[in-house]
Amino acid sequence: MSLQAPSFVRHQQLINWVAEVAALTKPAAIHWVDGSEAENQQLLAQMVAAGTLTPLNPAKRPDSYAAFSDPSDVARVEDRTFVCSARREDAGPNNNWMDPAQMRTTLNGLFDGCMAGRTLYVIPFSMGPLGSPIAHVGIELTDSPYVVASMRIMTRMGRNVYEVLGEDGPFVPCVHSVGAPLAAGQADKPWPCNPDTKYIVHYPETREIWSYGSGYGGNALLGKKCFALRIASTMGRDQGWLAEHMLILGVENPQGDKRYVAAAFPSACGKTNFAMLIPPKTYDGWKVTTVGDDIAWIKPAADGQLYAINPENGYFGVAPGTSVKSNPNAMAMLNEGVIFTNVALTDDGDVWWEGMSKDIPAHLTDWQGKDWTPDCGRKAAHPNARFTVPAAKCPSLDPAWNDPAGVPISAFIFGGRRSSTVPLVFEAASWEDGVYMAATMGSETTAAAFGAQGVTRRDPFAMLPFCGYHMGDYFQHWLDMAGKVSKLPRIFCVNWFRTDADGKFIWPGFGDNMRVLEWIVGRVQGTAQAEDSPLGKVPAYAHLNWAGMDGFTEQHFQQLMVLDEAAWRHELAAHDEWFAKLADALPASLAARRSKLAEALGV
Ligand code: OXD
Ligand code: MN
Repeated sequence: MSLQAPSFVRHQQLINWVAEVAALTKPAAIHWVDGSEAENQQLLAQMVAAGTLTPLNPAKRPDSYAAFSDPSDVARVEDRTFVCSARREDAGPNNNWMDPAQMRTTLNGLFDGCMAGRTLYVIPFSMGPLGSPIAHVGIELTDSPYVVASMRIMTRMGRNVYEVLGEDGPFVPCVHSVGAPLAAGQADKPWPCNPDTKYIVHYPETREIWSYGSGYGGNALLGKKCFALRIASTMGRDQGWLAEHMLILGVENPQGDKRYVAAAFPSACGKTNFAMLIPPKTYDGWKVTTVGDDIAWIKPAADGQLYAINPENGYFGVAPGTSVKSNPNAMAMLNEGVIFTNVALTDDGDVWWEGMSKDIPAHLTDWQGKDWTPDCGRKAAHPNARFTVPAAKCPSLDPAWNDPAGVPISAFIFGGRRSSTVPLVFEAASWEDGVYMAATMGSETTAAAFGAQGVTRRDPFAMLPFCGYHMGDYFQHWLDMAGKVSKLPRIFCVNWFRTDADGKFIWPGFGDNMRVLEWIVGRVQGTAQAEDSPLGKVPAYAHLNWAGMDGFTEQHFQQLMVLDEAAWRHELAAHDEWFAKLADALPASLAARRSKLAEALGV
């Protein structure tokens, strides 16, 4: 095996580290990824030959492939995810913790020889536009060609990253193995992984990521949740910026006044749909544009505003439920050049998933390769089936999405899935108030996401699985941001998911969310009216634009806005329970804010 680095790599510390990891993991070969199209085609062909990828019918879905994972490897593994800070209390109750020295011993054992028979790929990637002052570089070492092909879509990957790094630039080292060494002559599996042992490990002080045993999504594409959220959130805390689980979108009114907002929603709340929203027909002259659908890195700039980039280069979206009704922009993006994972295949070599079309195919091959018919009692696609597609293909892509300076953020929006209690929209009375609301936000679980249905899981800032340090310290960091910029964004909370007595959604959602977005942007511009409520400012019925929304009455609106005393008594008790878990680092001002809220609500 040659340890020789190519001439475009001039960073000796990086070369030494690759040699160290190779000495530990003992791969059969090392491949320094250059990101070229020729290299990509060669890897795709290799994966087709290995059975990892199935090419789709080129007449229906050109340049597209389907991958099918091992049934034990279908989602992020939160219970196997660790933040190994030097002190347990720094990881907080929101993270699994293990002593870093002990974890290193465990991982050294697991990684010893774990790449035998495989190629170690060295992936240089930038999270954010190359060279942007908001961006950061990572290097992922992996033994999975599927990870290489996916990282090429999801990040700015390739040899020009070495130009940013130069001879001694900083990078976040990420090591990934599927944890399935091959003995001499042993045949490989189409989706190698370790069905028994998985570790997704972060060392926040040294900003390192080590991932073992899974080839799937956020467990393996280490630029995403591991780097861009868990490690970056600790970098943001130390350096005075924010790494958030937020989409970023632009809203431009017919007069050409354009504002950007960043919005946090937990998984399974339609985040990608909101990021690519198409306004109702009556919104002639309005434009909604997409900067990002999942993650935002946000830094203060000299003009006193917060500027955000989407650190990613592609979308790793949940396929089930995506349709021309829920997200026409996403569907248009999926016409070609896509890697699908764990979707079902039609008999003519195309893809299908639950919710994609009203017409359900009479026969499919399901994600596990079994025959599927509508009456078979199984899902055809896995509920967490995904598409991986370059952002550049998004029809609503914002012209500034690749701007190294980022886009100025005027408002933060927080939303969960709540069948009651939380109104359609309200504006927090102050920054501190907004932080309280985001810190206590909850979302009802869906069967697909977490097993049990209808249980409210607290997911502050939609960051519970992604904050790389103590959640209480994270709240303090958000409170402290108020002192770092002179033009603070406003904070809003939304809830698209309130239901009526029959359990039916009252709000139509999707494109009609534009009506709420228009009000939010209008509040920022000073044009939208509001009235007082115990939660902050809210729109009266007359303050929203209802043009073209026939059949939705003032009474429906009131059903969405009413604050029920008993529900709020229960809600505040749930806040207390939640805060008690974070007591050792909970900012005192949030506890004080809770008392004020109880008083305002009269509960
Ligand atoms: C995601 C998630 O996959 O938040 O983006 O779970
Ligand atoms: Mn996400």
